[in-house]
Amino acid sequence: MENRICKLFGIKYPIIQAGMVWCSGWRLASAVSNNGGLGLLGAGSMHPETLREHIQKTKLATNQPFGVNVPLFYPELEAIINIIAEEKVPIVFTSAGSPKKLTAWLQERGIIVAHVIASSAFALKCEEAGVDAIVAEGFEAGGHNGKEETTTMTLIPAVRRVTSLPLMAAGGVGTGEAMLAAMVLGADGVQIGSRFAISEESSAHPDFKKLVTGLAEGDTKLALKKIGPVRLIKNEFFQTVNKLELEGADGSVLRELLGKGRAKKGMFEGDLAEGELEIGQVASIINEVLPVETIMKNLIAEYHAAKMRVNTDEFEC
Ligand SMILES: Cc1cc2nc3c(=O)[nH]c(=O)nc-3n(C[C@H](O)[C@H](O)[C@H](O)COP(=O)(O)O)c2cc1C
Repeated sequence: MENRICKLFGIKYPIIQAGMVWCSGWRLASAVSNNGGLGLLGAGSMHPETLREHIQKTKLATNQPFGVNVPLFYPELEAIINIIAEEKVPIVFTSAGSPKKLTAWLQERGIIVAHVIASSAFALKCEEAGVDAIVAEGFEAGGHNGKEETTTMTLIPAVRRVTSLPLMAAGGVGTGEAMLAAMVLGADGVQIGSRFAISEESSAHPDFKKLVTGLAEGDTKLALKKIGPVRLIKNEFFQTVNKLELEGADGSVLRELLGKGRAKKGMFEGDLAEGELEIGQVASIINEVLPVETIMKNLIAEYHAAKMRVNTDEFEC
């Protein structure tokens, strides 16, 4: 039986490379698409005309399908979506907002729409909005996240109970074993962020990549819940945020501290102390910066080996 995610997006493997600020430009997205997955450009860190440039470069670098991730709080949203439509990008993943906002507009222009959620209540909103597919992102994930702290292990079966839509699991998937687990839980495919953020083709700063390869379990934490929960490495900036949060600081104080350009400063410019460093819990098992081709091959080989192992593992009932 053909996999629903592969069929929907016209790809070989049900592996989506997440759209990620300061990491997923044309090099990363085209490499993933060229290796049988779906590459996504991360519009969240691009000015509209920069996005156009990345779309055009991706088209030159691959003849396979690719898409754009659009965080719905993006300040120049209208300009971004007009460029996506003009450039005839076939697929959009929307996140961080209501699926009602853009789904119909994009679909009327022939664009396939997936929306990212962190709870089964939002999965129902996706159904109402008529999205083509859902990404359910658990608490382990890097970047922005749900307030409820629902883990991927709990979230995927919960979302699967309320919707029959094609479903991708995100959060904590960095190996083929985790991919198989997500699919056993009810997902049709996976969206992978952190593992691809630490690839050769990712546009993140080399010092950020190096730092991530040395992280241990517990070195990231969900912060800034009052203004938009985000999983961060526990660097100096995080410690300042954490102290203020423990003292009960309100949203405006946190917003002022965060200011503008913190994520760029950390992940793109390599200020490892004062920048905002987004990565998922799975970072603790990411020990090397690898090319996308190797990451994809590893994921597929591990997936098949794990499936075989589970099939042949006997126990008494
Ligand atoms: C560095 C980084 C930047 C991210 N930026 C975005 C973003 O711009 N838009 C978005 O929807 N999700 C973003 N995310 C979340 C990813 O899309 C994805 O859902 C998540 O990374 C999956 O969990 P994983 O990191 O455990 O693989 C980001 C994640 C990381 C690690």
